[in-house]
Amino acid sequence: MTQEYILVSVAWPYANADIHQGNVTGSYLPADIYARFHRLKGNHVLMVSGADAHGTPVTVKAEELGQTVEETFNHYHQRFLELFQKLGLTYDLFTHTDTENHFQVSQDIFLSLLENGYLYKKITPQMYSPASDKFLPDRYVEGTCPNCGYTRARGDQCDNCNTLFESAAELINPYSKVDNSPLELRDTEHFFIDLPQIAADGLSAWIHDDKEFWRPQVINFARNFIDRGLIGRAITRDMDWGIPVPVEGYEHKVLYVWFEAVIGYLSASIEWAKNTGQPEAWRHWWQEDNARALYFIGKDNIPFHAIFWPAQLLGAKGLYSDDPNAHLNLPYDVPANEFMNMEGRKISGSMNWGVWMLDALERYDPDPLRYYLTAVMPETRDSDWSWSGFVERNNAELVGNWGNLVNRVLNMTKRYFKGVVPDPGALTEADAALLAAIDAGMETVSQLYDACKFRAAVQENLRLSTLVNQYLEDASPWTTAKTDLAATGRALYTAVQAINALKITWAPILPFTSQRVHEMLGEEGTLFGEQRVEEYQETSKTHVALTYDGSKAVGVWQRAEIPAGRQLPKPKPLFKKLDESVAEAELARLGNPG
Ligand code: MF3
Ligand code: ZN
Repeated sequence: MTQEYILVSVAWPYANADIHQGNVTGSYLPADIYARFHRLKGNHVLMVSGADAHGTPVTVKAEELGQTVEETFNHYHQRFLELFQKLGLTYDLFTHTDTENHFQVSQDIFLSLLENGYLYKKITPQMYSPASDKFLPDRYVEGTCPNCGYTRARGDQCDNCNTLFESAAELINPYSKVDNSPLELRDTEHFFIDLPQIAADGLSAWIHDDKEFWRPQVINFARNFIDRGLIGRAITRDMDWGIPVPVEGYEHKVLYVWFEAVIGYLSASIEWAKNTGQPEAWRHWWQEDNARALYFIGKDNIPFHAIFWPAQLLGAKGLYSDDPNAHLNLPYDVPANEFMNMEGRKISGSMNWGVWMLDALERYDPDPLRYYLTAVMPETRDSDWSWSGFVERNNAELVGNWGNLVNRVLNMTKRYFKGVVPDPGALTEADAALLAAIDAGMETVSQLYDACKFRAAVQENLRLSTLVNQYLEDASPWTTAKTDLAATGRALYTAVQAINALKITWAPILPFTSQRVHEMLGEEGTLFGEQRVEEYQETSKTHVALTYDGSKAVGVWQRAEIPAGRQLPKPKPLFKKLDESVAEAELARLGNPG
C-alpha cells in the first residue's frame, strides 16, 4: 500500500484567552481524530499549528491585564501547551508566530506576491491619535454611532443598534479607548493584495473545480463569496507589534495578522522539518501532487482558509521552487465546523459561560471529554453542550456499552480461564459471522474518519460494540460455563478478537483508553507516539513547543490476533460512572462569579 502525505492544518488560537470546549470541538479535536486515524493507517501525517501572537486581540488583552504583550502571549501559550498535551492532541509541532522562522517565511510570501505583481500601494484615511502620535487600529476606537446616536459605539460595530461599520472613520466624534483623547483622520499608505487579479489568474477556477466532497455550507459560502466579486484587501497595518513589512521605508508598519497567521501552516511545517533534522522534508506535504492538506477551523474562519490563504499561495507562485509558475499546494479540503453552544446559550468568556478545558481536566479524564465533544460535534449545524448530556452519554455509552463489553469479556476470561485466552478449537458460523461483521465495520469506520464524519464514526463504533454485546447474550458463555466449557472458551476467544479490533476503531477518539485495552489484551508497545513539550533555541530566542514523536508507535489499522494461551494482565474498568449530581454541581459553577 502506498503511503500518503497528509497535512493536518489546525486553527491558530489567539494567545489572549483560555480554551473552551467550543474551540476544541470546532477544530482541535476533529483535527486530532483525523491525524490519529491516518497515523494508524500508516500515512505520513504532519499536524501543525501554534499560538497566534500578533494582532489587536492580543495587544488589547495585554493592556487589560496591565502586562507586556510578551507576558500575555507567553502565559496563554504555556497554557495551550499544557492543555493540548493533557487532552492528547498529537501536534507534530504546536509553535507560535513569534519566531524568526515565521517572520522569514511570512516576509518571503509577501515579497513573492510583490514580485509577481499581486500587491499594490494605496493611501487611505485612518484614525490617528495626536496625543500618542500614532495610528490606532479600529479596535481602539470608539465614538458616536451615525445611525442611533449611541456615544460608545465600537470602531467595527455599534452594540446598541448592531450596525456594522466598514471602518471606524464612520463614527462621529471618535476618541481613543486607551486614553479617551480625541482622534482625527490622517492619510496612511498600505499594501493591498490584488484579489480580483488572483481570482482571474486561477483562484476562481480552483474554487469551481470538483469540490463536491466539501461540506456544502463551506463550498457554497466560498463560491458565493468569490462570485459576488472580490476587492483588494489591505495586508499591512500601522502597529508596532508584529512582523515588519520587508520593504524599505515601510519597516515601521507590520503585516496584517490575518495575512501572516495563515502563513503559519507553511512556516510551522518548515520549522518542524528543521527541528527534526531533515530541513527539506516539509516539501512532501507542500509540493507533491498527491499530498492532501486539510484545514480544521471554525466557520467564522472560512473566508481566510478557503479564499484568502489559497489566494496568497497562488499569488506567491515560484516561491521555494525552480519553476516560476509552480505554487505550493492549495487546501484539499476545509472541513469547517459550526459552533457549539453551552446549555442553550452562546459560550462567553466574560460571562463565565463555557467549559474551560484545563479546568474540566482536573475533574474528568480526557477520553470522556473527547467522547462527548465528538458525539455532539457541530459538523453540519450548531450544537449544544449540556452537562446532563455529558453525564448521560458517559454512563450509557462509554460505561454501559463499550466499557461494559471490555469489562465483561476480560472478567469472564479471568473467572473461567484464569485470565488465559482460551483455545477456540473450530469457530462456529456465529463466531465467524461476528468477526466478519467487525472486519466490515472497520472498513466503514475507516471511510467515515477519512470523510471527517466523526459523529457517524461514533455511531458506527457503538453499533459494533452493541453487536458484540448481542453476540455474548446469544452465546451466553456464563451459562455454557457449567455445561460446555469449550463453547464458553470459543465465545470468549471470539469476543477478545472483536475487542482487539474495536480498540483500533475507537482509538482516534479515545486514545488513552484504547491504549489501556491494548495493554489489558497483553499487547506490547504504544498505539501512538509520544508527545513532548520541548525547548529549543533559535539564534537569540528560546522557544517552547509541543511535539510528537511517532517513531515508536505500533498501532495499525487492522485486526491482529490475540493468540490462545496468552496470559492476560488483571483487567480494570475503563470508564467511571458519573453520578447525576455531577451535572448540577457543574451548572452551579457557571455564570458570572462576580
Ligand atoms: N487566531 C485567529 C482566530 O483564532 C486565526 C486562526 S486560524 C489562522 O480566529 F490560521 F488564521 F491563524
Ligand atoms: Zn447605533
